[in-house]
Amino acid sequence: PGAHVDLLLPSGLVRQYSLHHADGRPGPWRIAVLREPDGRGGSAELHDRVAVGTRLRAAGPRNRFPLLPGQDLLFLAGGIGITPLLPMLAAAERRGSRWRLAYAGRSRASMAFLPELARYGDRVTVAPRDECGRLDLDALLAGTPAGALVYCCGPEPLLQAVRARCEALPGLALHTERFTAAAPVPPAADTADTDFEAVLRRSGRTVPVPAGTSLLRALRGAGVAVLASCEEGTCGTCETTVLEGVPEHRDSLLTPEERAAGDLMLICVSRCLGSRLVLDL
Ligand code: FES
Repeated sequence: PGAHVDLLLPSGLVRQYSLHHADGRPGPWRIAVLREPDGRGGSAELHDRVAVGTRLRAAGPRNRFPLLPGQDLLFLAGGIGITPLLPMLAAAERRGSRWRLAYAGRSRASMAFLPELARYGDRVTVAPRDECGRLDLDALLAGTPAGALVYCCGPEPLLQAVRARCEALPGLALHTERFTAAAPVPPAADTADTDFEAVLRRSGRTVPVPAGTSLLRALRGAGVAVLASCEEGTCGTCETTVLEGVPEHRDSLLTPEERAAGDLMLICVSRCLGSRLVLDL
């Protein structure tokens, strides 16, 4: 539960989609793709150019949203953010956890998976905005016992609203996944780009990375095949293992623990504190 794959689309775009299985057990991968007419083109391409029989490459799965052990769980979904939560509900059932789901959307017609969710009865609150207005997050969180895990996936305003409330309720442990890019993190004021070199341990190459050029761009310019999607440090597709050297993290995805460990970096935005990084490429 919570895992996603990077799909490599025919045009060369790379997009992440959560895996979901109705019963939460391993099996063929299932993804759900909401057509976003005003998006960056990935969902429209999947709807328009991919049909039964089309072969696509995928990378992963990877999981940045794992379901941790917990007796009390509150799931909050906004729109297509329901997708990664579906296998979590099934897992929570199997574990015998106490859980509730509140699922918000524009209208019932726009909300996927309502038939699948009906079997969970009154543990699921379906809240279409055109019928019920906005989710009453204060009431939902106030009714959640201390020590509970809160899993939230949806658009940024929902994540921010839940995050702000959970910060005021220290008994709740919040886990979030966004399906839209977060605002990129500007580099710290005292951080200027400097030249460095990237040593690629597996291929035995050294690639210079000049100031003003991202590590991703420098690698691609040298003909190194690396996957990337958002190119602004928010999706994780370009995550790369660091074998030596100290990365200067400029992404908005890695946790403080991952940053401190220094063995992973997002090469689309992050750079090097020093003159040399050795990467597992
Ligand atoms: S490409 Fe999305 S984080 Fe680097």
